[in-house]
Amino acid sequence: TPELFTQCLEANSQNPIPFSTTFFTPKHNASFTSVLESTAQNLRYLLPSMPKPAFIFTPLEDSQVQAAVICAKKLKIHFRVRSGGHDYEGLSFVSLIEQPFMIIDLAKLRAIQVDIAHNTAWVEAGATLGEVYYRISEKSPIHAFPAGVCPSVGVGGHITGGGYGSLHRKYGLAADNVIDARIVDANGKILDRAAMGEDLFWAIRGGGGGSFGIILSWKIKLVQVPPIVTIFTVNKTLEQNANKILYKWQQVAPNIDEDLYIRVQMRVVNSSTPGKRTVQTSYISRFLGRADRLLQLMEKKFPELGLTKKDCLETSWIKSVPYIYGFPNTTSPEILIQRTLSGKMYMKAKTDYVRQVIPETALNSIWRRFMQDDEAVMTWVPYGGMMSKISESTLPYPHRKGVLFESQYVATWFDGEKSMQKHMNWVRRLYDFMTPYAPRFPREGYVNYRDLDLGMNHFNSTSFLRSSTWGFEYFKDNFIRLVKVKSEVDPSNLFRHEQSIPPLPLES
Ligand code: FDA
Repeated sequence: TPELFTQCLEANSQNPIPFSTTFFTPKHNASFTSVLESTAQNLRYLLPSMPKPAFIFTPLEDSQVQAAVICAKKLKIHFRVRSGGHDYEGLSFVSLIEQPFMIIDLAKLRAIQVDIAHNTAWVEAGATLGEVYYRISEKSPIHAFPAGVCPSVGVGGHITGGGYGSLHRKYGLAADNVIDARIVDANGKILDRAAMGEDLFWAIRGGGGGSFGIILSWKIKLVQVPPIVTIFTVNKTLEQNANKILYKWQQVAPNIDEDLYIRVQMRVVNSSTPGKRTVQTSYISRFLGRADRLLQLMEKKFPELGLTKKDCLETSWIKSVPYIYGFPNTTSPEILIQRTLSGKMYMKAKTDYVRQVIPETALNSIWRRFMQDDEAVMTWVPYGGMMSKISESTLPYPHRKGVLFESQYVATWFDGEKSMQKHMNWVRRLYDFMTPYAPRFPREGYVNYRDLDLGMNHFNSTSFLRSSTWGFEYFKDNFIRLVKVKSEVDPSNLFRHEQSIPPLPLES
């Protein structure tokens, strides 16, 4: 009940809490819906049929997050934690298995303190990646942080799942570059790295959000980027030899110089033959260096793409960030501090990690499936480089050596429930079709690209057997260690959701 909860918060908080601006119920606050929707990225989880929280609390200071955990535990109120709201299955603001529930929304805890002298920054969980990149660039044009390409993603959820972007081939994941963290644990205590110990510190850097505690802030290590980088996009349709080039890309992109990141994005477009559709493959790229060196490298390793000097634009690191996400190259970096810049839509996605080159002959049959949905996007992200040098068990994120690329299938739509089933079916059919090209035992998935098709915990119960279905796909053998850590730090399973890590003792 909201009243009991706010009384408890007051009793447990160091400073008075301004409830009129931090506490929202559907009955008492006209702004409840706008707060709920503010950062919710996947509109599928805002449909009227989806369960809504009984109330939302947006703490203004760390001690209020502590108080929220203490009170939720005491009053047995199920809660979800939200930072940037980009969870693919909406688990930070919707509970499918347990109602009523509340949201602890960290959007107001978003300070960023950059320390260039020590190559570090402290970043609060509610900050977005765009804010992090921008604030670093305000202090230095040659420092950066290797994390996701989408600027409105929240650092709170992102780093808990690993976090890769356009620098992971050079510097690894966001989680690989975290050196300390502050969390609120299941007893409502604030712990830093020294106090939480290395097992828990390992688990929170890749074991997925919402299982081990609430991250208040991360201490991140900054990395070096050159003052001038080069960006380009080259498009090739099926009529322009796309298959041959894509076949070659699979062999080149994961093995080429770590300074070069070439992502391929595929979508259905009109063909040059009137009335016909085709697939366009877009090679979206950033090189950590000048155009001349890039052109030499491409001529030697990937001449099939036909990159020319006029395709290349030299720019600063920070100006390349919006471009790599998909904005025009004239976009000002200030866009990075607009917190809701990603277009919201209804979406369903599925993911594979591909370890063997897909034969050129197979690509044509993939396109036949792919073209069954006009709004679909498939993205292939190259791995290799630093990702191959870090062992599978260093962090919970195991998709390292041997991964050629990550393949993501995304269906998006705008008419709510009307065409939902059609798009959901398409993405599931394409995923099934890709089975022969994905690793088996386990087929690998990414916890940050959450997919509830892989399985769910049941109401008020978690089982090792049930959670193994997604646990091993997301974490491979690291899942066992995650379960052990969970059993030690949160045996009563306070932090739980549809795909949270289960504690022992086991129930199957
Ligand atoms: P959100 O707030 O929804 O939280 C996600 C999960 O973490 C939930 O389970 C939540 O409870 C939990 N959580 C949130 N805050 C927490 C906290 N402070 N402490 C503990 N648990 C917390 N990924 C990637 O690696 N590279 C990329 O380039 C992209 N790009 C991208 C684009 C778009 C448009 C979307 C929608 C998503 C991505 N992602 C991505 C995936 C993204 O990394 C993933 O969805 C993150 O979990 C999002 O973190 P948020 O804080 O925004 O999500």
